[in-house]
Amino acid sequence: MDDVIETKQNLIISTIDYVEGSFENLLSTVFAQFYEKHPQVEELFEYHSFGNKVELQQSMIDSIIHCSTIWYTEPNKVNDIIQTAIPQHVQLKIEVNYFTGLIEAFFDVVLNIIKSLEKSNQEAILTLREEFLALIGFINEQK
Ligand code: HEM
Repeated sequence: MDDVIETKQNLIISTIDYVEGSFENLLSTVFAQFYEKHPQVEELFEYHSFGNKVELQQSMIDSIIHCSTIWYTEPNKVNDIIQTAIPQHVQLKIEVNYFTGLIEAFFDVVLNIIKSLEKSNQEAILTLREEFLALIGFINEQK
């Protein structure tokens, strides 16, 4: 594999590992921030989760993390996941701006947690955040 790609991917993986290992309340912090901006979505999580709201929330965060950890090595897979997920979510009345809002909240919380890390970690996450949002914008425009 290309060294540069592998280095980028490893940096993302180690940064997310750090976040998961050093910060217990990742899920609740991300969702508190997300619901503050999009209060209507909490009801959608209640409605679609049949009483397992936390589980559904965790599953969406796991998807974001999964996409993050393969983005540089398997961009086509991430493209497929997002391309399938957007219409699937829209059908469930989860509009694209909610979808994007959760990704923004996730990366904003991560950026806050890694403030004391190297600049390279922070730049890697910031770049990833921008690339994901651009990918969603691109997919959405093609509809
Ligand atoms: C805006 C907030 C979101 C809500 C309320 C939400 C809710 C849901 C619901 C209800 C499902 C169907 C679950 C099922 O079939 O059992 C689902 C599936 C899925 N969601 Fe989300 N989601 C959100 C954001 C996201 C984001 C940002 C991603 C990022 C990648 C994502 C990735 C996925 C994937 C990959 C699936 C398919 C899982 C599977 O079929 O196994 N979701 N989501």
